[in-house]
Amino acid sequence: MRKKIVAGNWKMNKTLQEGVALATELKNMLAAEKPNCEVIIGTPFIHLATVSELLKDSVIKVSAENCANKESGAYTGEVSAAMVKSTGAEYVILGHSERREYYNETPEILKDKVDLALANGLKVIFCIGESLAQREANEQEAVCKAELQGSVFHLSAEQWKNIVIAYEPIWAIGTGKTATAEQAEEIHAYIRKCVAEVYGAQAADDTTILYGGSCKASNAPELFGKPDIDGGLIGGASLKAPDFKGIIDAWK
Ligand code: 13P
Repeated sequence: MRKKIVAGNWKMNKTLQEGVALATELKNMLAAEKPNCEVIIGTPFIHLATVSELLKDSVIKVSAENCANKESGAYTGEVSAAMVKSTGAEYVILGHSERREYYNETPEILKDKVDLALANGLKVIFCIGESLAQREANEQEAVCKAELQGSVFHLSAEQWKNIVIAYEPIWAIGTGKTATAEQAEEIHAYIRKCVAEVYGAQAADDTTILYGGSCKASNAPELFGKPDIDGGLIGGASLKAPDFKGIIDAWK
């Protein structure tokens, strides 16, 4: 049975103190009322060690938002997968459209990052999704498949068990414009079919595929109600504990 997950992506928000306050608030909320899904928070690098320590006895798992495409050495300003792992974080988000667009992360660079993350014992939340122009040209399936082929479909069946896919249509990220549950389900089912072609029907059935893009407490129940949508990767609505908890509660 595949896991249901609600994951937050804080992006470049929250000072260390603000991040600790948010993680503490969430920890207390979920200690009082157990979630019906796995809960992950993705934080900037500087928060990882502190937040992982803070959450070590809680149900909440911690993710980085990126890691380097090099193992170690003279790469000023970079943070390696091994360093991320050493903080206690379990996951890393890779392939986010903001990294692809603003930091020129190519499929080849992302492939190296995925390999290093897995080699260092991290699980990967791998993001894919089309732009508005691509959606208008009806290219969403081709784009998603190419992104999978470019960076993760070389993995072994054993490695694949540590991959979570996040479908995030770029036109829905931070825009308030959510994909309809039908639109999201259609492409999630297609992504699962692509996974089945490479790893077989059972592995595809076991793969968690998250939806991301203006997901909030009000639309999460409808999205998560679809058979191929296994949860969400949440940006804006993960920055306030009650909002994020509202999305987690969609699994109740
Ligand atoms: P929003 O929820 O703010 O649209 O962001 C989605 C996202 O990019 C999560 O990675």
